[in-house]
Amino acid sequence: MAIILGIESSCDDTSAAVIRDTELLSNVIASQKVHEKYGGVVPELASRAHQQNIIPVVDTALKEANTEVRDLDAIAFTLAPGLLGSLLVGTCFAKGFAASAQIAMIEVNHLHGHILSHFIREPGGRNSHPDFPFLCLLVSGGHTQIIMVKNHLDFEILGETIDDAAGEAFDKCAKVMGLPYPGGPVIDALAKEGDEKAFAFAKPRVAGLNYSFSGLKTSFLYFLRDRVKEDARFIENHRADLCASLQYTIIAVLMDKLVKASKTTGVKQIATAGGVSANSGLAKALLETGEKHGWQVYIPPRKFTTDNAAMIAVAGYYKYREGKTCGLDVSPNVKLS
Ligand code: KG4
Ligand code: ZN
Repeated sequence: MAIILGIESSCDDTSAAVIRDTELLSNVIASQKVHEKYGGVVPELASRAHQQNIIPVVDTALKEANTEVRDLDAIAFTLAPGLLGSLLVGTCFAKGFAASAQIAMIEVNHLHGHILSHFIREPGGRNSHPDFPFLCLLVSGGHTQIIMVKNHLDFEILGETIDDAAGEAFDKCAKVMGLPYPGGPVIDALAKEGDEKAFAFAKPRVAGLNYSFSGLKTSFLYFLRDRVKEDARFIENHRADLCASLQYTIIAVLMDKLVKASKTTGVKQIATAGGVSANSGLAKALLETGEKHGWQVYIPPRKFTTDNAAMIAVAGYYKYREGKTCGLDVSPNVKLS
């Protein structure tokens, strides 16, 4: 049995979690409100907020888990990818903590964390998870990938975005409509009141299993610019329809390649991960498409779709089990290693 403290600080959420093997004992998240007025994450402000939050967040996570520092076997932390200043706070904290508590350090790739969020066991929760191999549609603010997950530590990227991520498309289009950041959940809520067929936006044509979202963002921008010239209140008057149509297009693009990936690999265990997998339209599309193609669909509980340390702790556990610890010489990496 291993008790692991997980730390996540790659972007704008400071989070700490404690797990016993894969059983979650606590998961504390401090979200940073400071970025809202800028319409996006400001890296320098994010790292400063992480510095303020990290000690209280860890303290609360240990207390909620009824765990003392001496009970811990290891500390798992996000080393890459993410914002450098943000990653540095978590990494430096983990180094100091590991050295003083004399416990092992495990570096975790943030994206592995998102994928392995399916293996977090919650006391009294629904603890089903996909069987290997499964396909994971990883859709977040920074990444959009289709990944073949062969086991807890073996991943193969089958396709990915060549420009913007799906979450970025949500956020940037929301900004154009004057909606607050992050735009994904706001568009999701407004789309429920709108007609998804009200407006049609061109879907990108990209080879293989890769994605592209920058063209959609640009065509959305030009479309609005032209309409607003004719009617200054166009956005206000059509907000719900715009959100529904945009969301419909993003989901259609995501689903098209996912169906293709399942057909080419023959894999029908299908999972999602990352912030955008909280989208209600995507969940509906997955379940409907899954029914048609005989998929078994796994969508993580909402609280584990956006950034959290529980997923980092569980990914750390699977590495710890294999003796994959790291030394004090590791440094954060902005890009995927
Ligand atoms: O995984 P995540 O918390 O952070 C990254 O690693 O990027 O994902 C954040 C992204 C943001 O782009 C946000 O707008 C999007 O997830 N998101 C959503 C929804 N909830 C969060 N996008 C669409 N619908 C949602 N309900
Ligand atoms: Zn993330």
